[in-house]
Amino acid sequence: MFSKVRKSLVALMALSIVSGVAAKAVANEQVKAEPWWKQAVVYEIYPRSFADSDNNGMGDIKGITSKLDYLKDLGVDALWITPCYPSPQVDFGYDISDYKAIAPEYGTMADFDELLAEAKKRDIKIIMDFVMNHSSDKHPWFVESASSKDNPKRDWYIWKNGAASGPPNNWISLFGGSAWKLYPKTNQYNYHFFYPEQPDLNWRNPEVRTAMYDAARFWLDKGVAGFRLDAVQTLFEDPKLPDNPVREGKNQYGDPNTEYLHNDKLPEVHDVLRELRAVLDKYPGDRVLIGETSGSDIAEISKSYGKDLDEVQLPMNFILAYINKLSVPEFRKRIEEWDNNPARGWPLYFFSNHDQVRHYVRYGDKIHNNEIAKLTATLLLTLRGTPMMYYGEELGMQNNDPKTKEEVQDPIGKIGWPAEIGRDGERTPVQWNADVNAGFSTAKPWLPVSPNYKQVNVVVESSDKNSVLNFYKQLIRLRKTEDALMHGTYVAMDEKNQDVLSYLRKTNKGSVVVALNMTPASKVVQLDLKSKGIDAESANPLLASYEVGSSNANLKSFTLPAYGVFIGKVK
Ligand code: GLC
Repeated sequence: MFSKVRKSLVALMALSIVSGVAAKAVANEQVKAEPWWKQAVVYEIYPRSFADSDNNGMGDIKGITSKLDYLKDLGVDALWITPCYPSPQVDFGYDISDYKAIAPEYGTMADFDELLAEAKKRDIKIIMDFVMNHSSDKHPWFVESASSKDNPKRDWYIWKNGAASGPPNNWISLFGGSAWKLYPKTNQYNYHFFYPEQPDLNWRNPEVRTAMYDAARFWLDKGVAGFRLDAVQTLFEDPKLPDNPVREGKNQYGDPNTEYLHNDKLPEVHDVLRELRAVLDKYPGDRVLIGETSGSDIAEISKSYGKDLDEVQLPMNFILAYINKLSVPEFRKRIEEWDNNPARGWPLYFFSNHDQVRHYVRYGDKIHNNEIAKLTATLLLTLRGTPMMYYGEELGMQNNDPKTKEEVQDPIGKIGWPAEIGRDGERTPVQWNADVNAGFSTAKPWLPVSPNYKQVNVVVESSDKNSVLNFYKQLIRLRKTEDALMHGTYVAMDEKNQDVLSYLRKTNKGSVVVALNMTPASKVVQLDLKSKGIDAESANPLLASYEVGSSNANLKSFTLPAYGVFIGKVK
């Protein structure tokens, strides 16, 4: 199901490998002034698809505000809102034409201020998406820059003369084709890592840095809690523009092995991350950076925390998010390495976002999908770290992929069809109820609602105690009430078991045990707490995805049904 380009979207930054001294995770994270984001559940909203207040088929800011009570009841603490700035919407907001305004189709600045205020009343924080690598080609900065070679903004973007054979070098765009577009007016090529309408800003120009940090301050002054940094690892290019390595049969559009040696993860990125973090740190309230950071190994991803934890507080670990089958050894290994990351940074966990096939589909076997959704929810919400959800995962929303090229909205799908169908499938409207268009809008939605909306929606699931939605709610509440789930160390258990993933969240004052059966057969589990320094043999069940027979589960031997999940409290 995974498309090649989507894989490369996250694998693109996978070259430089640093060696790091593996350090054991901090023993107990219970510290006095703990920043809010360590305890928060973050929830990603794709505004175009969330809720449509003016019934034009597209979600908007007022729509989000109208659903704050739902989000509060769900239990989330912070919303990451994907770009809602003015934009020609070539890449649905990731092509910004004004960094200090709100897209008119999504509302006004007053609407945004209202969202902030209403969210604050409910103790929910707002995290903006910040697209630093590129602007839209319709941004006035770029319009000026393109107008002449001697325009003062010429150097805000990357312009080069062509080589005899065409573009300045062999670099390719992640979205397909050459990374260079010829502008005949000045007879120079412009560099774009993504779509041609997304020209890269020149971060070597101090004026660009000043302007972008100024934009960040604009939103921080309003009270946003931080930023999710889009595509931040491609801010810099080698100014000498050497060709990227070409390997036989590789470097083709969509090839996940394509190398971006000279235009990805250059060390200068860390200077910018440090500078931006310093901007945030001038504000009260522990403002946070979430980084779209990836890499071929944990040491590499971990670099984005910064040597002194002075860069991104929450880098995104796509290695873990891209595990595409329920493999106990793979999860155990990847959790262990992320929990023990060399920077000793606080882990962030997620499984889905607007660029990846929803994990309901990736892990689902079409028979036990809801059990599997509860299992992945448990994993997400019981690990040591900050969980980040993607809208609709709490309902068990699945992908609704386009069937024909004509239906496709996403540029990646438009270029790559049929091998690459794009990202529309994971961006469909929220299924609020069983009414027309799932209650998202009375007008035809910009993307078709998933056909299963009559069964899978907020209203139906709210009244079903066994629904995926109610399981998420219970899990989030449990996470907030059980101190061990917030602060306990992660201790792997039953480490040789290939079918059941078990672990403890351990504190001196009590621990929580979690066991997840990742197979379609029931499994007997035997957990030896004594080997982990806990003098107990049983647990008080806190939450399970099945009826737990006795009130005190004997951990020396208990049975988990197919894809069953058990969470219990031990001494
Ligand atoms: C990031 C975004 C993706 C966008 C790209 C270009 O990967 O998550 O949606 O297309 O950057 O901005």
